[in-house]
Amino acid sequence: MTEEKLKELLNDMSLEEKINQLVQIPGSYYEKEAVVTGGMQSNRFSEKQLNQAGSILGISGAETLREIQKNYMEKQPHHIPLLFMLDVIHGLRTIFPMPLALGATFDEELVKSTAQAAASETAVSGVHVTFAPMADLVRDARWGRVMESTGEDPYLNSILAEAMVSGFQGAQVKGQDSIAACVKHFAAYGAPEGGREYNNVELSEHTLREYYLPAYEAGIRAGSELVMTSFNTLNGIPSSGNQWLLRDVLRKEMGFDGVVISDWASIEEMIPHGFCADKREAAKKAIEAGVDIDMCTDVYANNLQKLVEDGEIDERRIDESVLRVLRLKNRLGLFENPFKDGDAEREKEVILCSKHRKLAREAAKASFVLLKNEKDIQTGKKLLPIEAKARVAFIGPYAESKELHSAWAIKGEAEDAVSIREAAEEALGRGQAVFAQGCGMLQRENSMNLSRNAGHTLTERELGIYAEEEEKQMEEALRAAKSAEVVVLCLGEHRLMSGEAASRADIKLPKIQLELFRKIQKVNPRIVTVVFSGRPLDLREVSEKSMAVLEVWLPGTEGGHAILDVLTGEYNPSGKLPMSFPYSVGQVPVYYNGYATGRPKMSGEEGLFYRSKYLDIPNEPLYPFGYGLSYTEFEISKTRLSAANADRDNPLIKVSATVKNTEKRSGTETMQLYIQDISASVVRPVKELKGICKVTLEPGEERNVEFQITEEMLCFHNMDNKLAREAGSYRVWVSNSSITEDGVEFVIE
Ligand code: NOJ
Repeated sequence: MTEEKLKELLNDMSLEEKINQLVQIPGSYYEKEAVVTGGMQSNRFSEKQLNQAGSILGISGAETLREIQKNYMEKQPHHIPLLFMLDVIHGLRTIFPMPLALGATFDEELVKSTAQAAASETAVSGVHVTFAPMADLVRDARWGRVMESTGEDPYLNSILAEAMVSGFQGAQVKGQDSIAACVKHFAAYGAPEGGREYNNVELSEHTLREYYLPAYEAGIRAGSELVMTSFNTLNGIPSSGNQWLLRDVLRKEMGFDGVVISDWASIEEMIPHGFCADKREAAKKAIEAGVDIDMCTDVYANNLQKLVEDGEIDERRIDESVLRVLRLKNRLGLFENPFKDGDAEREKEVILCSKHRKLAREAAKASFVLLKNEKDIQTGKKLLPIEAKARVAFIGPYAESKELHSAWAIKGEAEDAVSIREAAEEALGRGQAVFAQGCGMLQRENSMNLSRNAGHTLTERELGIYAEEEEKQMEEALRAAKSAEVVVLCLGEHRLMSGEAASRADIKLPKIQLELFRKIQKVNPRIVTVVFSGRPLDLREVSEKSMAVLEVWLPGTEGGHAILDVLTGEYNPSGKLPMSFPYSVGQVPVYYNGYATGRPKMSGEEGLFYRSKYLDIPNEPLYPFGYGLSYTEFEISKTRLSAANADRDNPLIKVSATVKNTEKRSGTETMQLYIQDISASVVRPVKELKGICKVTLEPGEERNVEFQITEEMLCFHNMDNKLAREAGSYRVWVSNSSITEDGVEFVIE
């Protein structure tokens, strides 16, 4: 439909009809037969509002959605099609590694492919919009939603947000197997005070612009059709009512012209925030700020009309939002084909197809981070990869678990997943492996708030609590450990311990699993710990006492296969941490790209007391951003510069280093360019990631890795919050982690 026609349509709509386009209702109001019965189920919406709401959240399935669409369009006065939206965060049915794990791949092409595959499964099941990517920068591992982010770095987050948007949307969102993306949660949702979910955010404008905004902006630049507001206040203003944020920053500065949707009830929540007295005021503030769709409350549905009639809101405000919704429907091609790619036959072919499973395995392997791999003193060999014929005991609650997807894999099914046991039985020789659960995922006392999750009460079994069997499980595990040459301890957080509303103050492994770990370690110290988690954990004890540690996050459908690929050496690990693993929770927030302070604690100055430090723990995290080992050793030369000086307007300096594979197996290293602006008009971080280059090297092979310094890399927000660069000295490093050797300096005049 042309823009002209869309405007004609808009002009022909009644005010009530227009407002309904701005209302989203949850799919739970629909029965199986796809007719609206919500009037009976809900006292919030009238039957008419339910019949005419412009979009629905949370249901999928080609046949069901086709029925709903047909019924809806018959009743809608202008036969405008509905929009179907769903949270497809790391896959629909084929579940890819959780987003933080995808961050660990440092690989935009791979991440884009996972988004493409997720989009095709979503599109065939009739859905038009996903609420992803979450572009929130995160620094606090206590926050349960770090799993949905790609980590602590603005550059990495930006390239991956862009990759996800282009993966979901394809060349044209209307095209086959494409869905619309929604960059969220605007803005700074990832910085809640104390890491406590939904908590307030206090950030200077400088920090907001330097660290938090770039990834949203990258997603928007990549063409994201939607943006979602966040639950939090930002410096005292809830995002869904923040005119400066939504109109000035998002629309004017970033040039976003798509649909802004609230988060679930975040307009109504401006009342408990203490920002609005009632729903009427909430509706007014949100529409004035430019929120187009009200997700799942009746605030818009029951207040906007009166506000217009009373002259408190100009109808043009409503028109502006409705036009955006109509444009989105149009860009998706729904006026021509309201079912888009929804197709029950293709659904059977596409969902969980072998191509997607293969990709899920690739992505999972690439996301694992080898944190430690020690040599055995007797054999002189590293514990990993496991020797071909070694007797292995797989012990722990994750040894046989198929719950390898996060709380945000709404359509993910455990039965589709490959467990470690299943994969080990395929990969290892008969009788080579034994399996023992050892303990439950949780013990009774720390199941706490988890038992009521997402509105239903979970049984002890679902939580992985086996109170009566604990003794027996432990005995079996000890027996298995004693008989083995290598113990693979498969430990981790319950998958519901991360995600929305899942903040933790203690970020260690569950107590019962730590007890198992200690007991096993006493009978057989040849331990590889495979850690499953939705966040960086405090792994100090586990790391000290394991010979090898592999972080596998929540790896998704092909998790078991991917883990065996790495343990057996079939695949050489190459993942890098996208978020620092703290030494202890007392350091949090801890991240690599902070400021030095006036009294930095430098190595070699340990005796100095009045330094920025802790008395009881180091300043450095246990494992920093960008860190991750391989089965191969890489030798990296000193960083080199093509010139030490550059003209102020033409900083064409090239920075390089040589990387050499010094071992007998091929491997992939992720080379990272870091830059520091040594002295500037505002303090600059000690280093910032500005480039990534992954190189795969055969045994003995070496390669020169070169980065071009660009103007953009040197820019920062100055005191006036304007992007600029300044003359002066810069330090650079080409490294394989954020822990760097001495850098080299250049000057821009
Ligand atoms: C609330 C979450 O914060 C958001 O990320 C999600 O997209 C919506 N609910 C819809 O499920």
